[in-house]
Amino acid sequence: MAKQTLRIGIAGLGTVGGGLLNLLSERPDFAPAGTTTAITGVSARSRTRARSADISNLPWFDDPVALAISPDNDVFVELIGGAEGPAKAAVEAALKLGKPVVTANKALIAVHGAELAALAEANGAPLLFEAAVMGGTPAVKMLREAMVGDEVEAVAGILNGTCNYILTEMEETGRSFAAVLGEAQDLGYAEADPTTDVGGFDAAHKITILAALAFGCAPNFAAAQVEGIDQVELLDIHLARDLGYRIRLVAQATRSDAGVTVSVHPALAPLGHPLAETKGPLNALFIEGRRIGRIFIQGPGAGAGPTAAAVAADIADIMTGAVRPVFQAPATALKPFAAVDAAHAVGRAYVRLMVKDEPGVIAAVSETLAEAGVSIDSFLQKPVHDAGGVPIVLTTHATPESALLEAIRRIGALPALLQAPKMLRIARI
Ligand code: HSE
Repeated sequence: MAKQTLRIGIAGLGTVGGGLLNLLSERPDFAPAGTTTAITGVSARSRTRARSADISNLPWFDDPVALAISPDNDVFVELIGGAEGPAKAAVEAALKLGKPVVTANKALIAVHGAELAALAEANGAPLLFEAAVMGGTPAVKMLREAMVGDEVEAVAGILNGTCNYILTEMEETGRSFAAVLGEAQDLGYAEADPTTDVGGFDAAHKITILAALAFGCAPNFAAAQVEGIDQVELLDIHLARDLGYRIRLVAQATRSDAGVTVSVHPALAPLGHPLAETKGPLNALFIEGRRIGRIFIQGPGAGAGPTAAAVAADIADIMTGAVRPVFQAPATALKPFAAVDAAHAVGRAYVRLMVKDEPGVIAAVSETLAEAGVSIDSFLQKPVHDAGGVPIVLTTHATPESALLEAIRRIGALPALLQAPKMLRIARI
């Protein structure tokens, strides 16, 4: 019997698009027996740009929306990126026609996931996005499919390869943030605009999607509390290390009776903890299920090959006709996202101060902490730093975040302070 051919249109030919072209040319028959693939159209901003894959023989579309609605393809793959603009227009156009869509676009799903899920389900079209989170490491299918029998209470991990690469390299080589960022861009980990990575937004898009899948709620990117690694200094990486910790960008979503909290922060993980030991561009994720308990996955979260493989896994699902709601529950039954302010969270923290070397400073700092109800767990004063100040580092016992922030505010106003205090959470994982 002749093999059935799935005709694929691909919009966006950057790192992931190039990886997918190569994967499909090397393995057109990757998917279940009886089906093969053919690329029947491509679209990108520039037709002539140098690429890892040859597109000279592929039908070209200047307009991704025209490609999305072309009757020459059975599935539309969107790898353009961005929450708005051509990516959104093209995905909507395909879904309106009932055409299956595969996307790696985390911003689009985090921001518009609920409305796109409604559109997809109303038109009977799959909308799949395994590659949007953790690249080649299958987090989306795990939550959407394998965990539906349980109730997930928390997901937390490292979801941005660029940030993890930068933090690892800074620690291991003592190089500056800027030097290492350039390298991550050259290696193809970073987003087109790297502030999306280092500002924490990329990880926030991903944890927003995972929260929706884990808790059966509508994705709500606007409710995510986001802080990146752009303010993490080499000094803090070294001081945290002296205290037995490594700094990681931790993305976390938890559910309680009060609602859902989604956050991204640089945080300290104890040496030996799987998050502290996740190095380079790797991603890692803990999933906490009420019945299953704790699951940990770790793997490549960026790069052409791994991310293209995740796109291909979604294409395979279209071939087999697997039909599931876009998120864990049908779009019409997604729970509203009741955001809980992280100020209610209770946790431990690392606080680093740069102070004048004069009598009474430590007494003033500890008095201020005591007045705010913050209890010190460990305290370390280092010899005079190059800037002429003295670094003081302390860790706190578990404290409501609101009390901690108030204490930091008051310490920042002490006359002996040479710089604003630096506070980093100690990961609650
Ligand atoms: N810029 C992303 C990262 C790529 O560094 O993880 C994958 O989403």
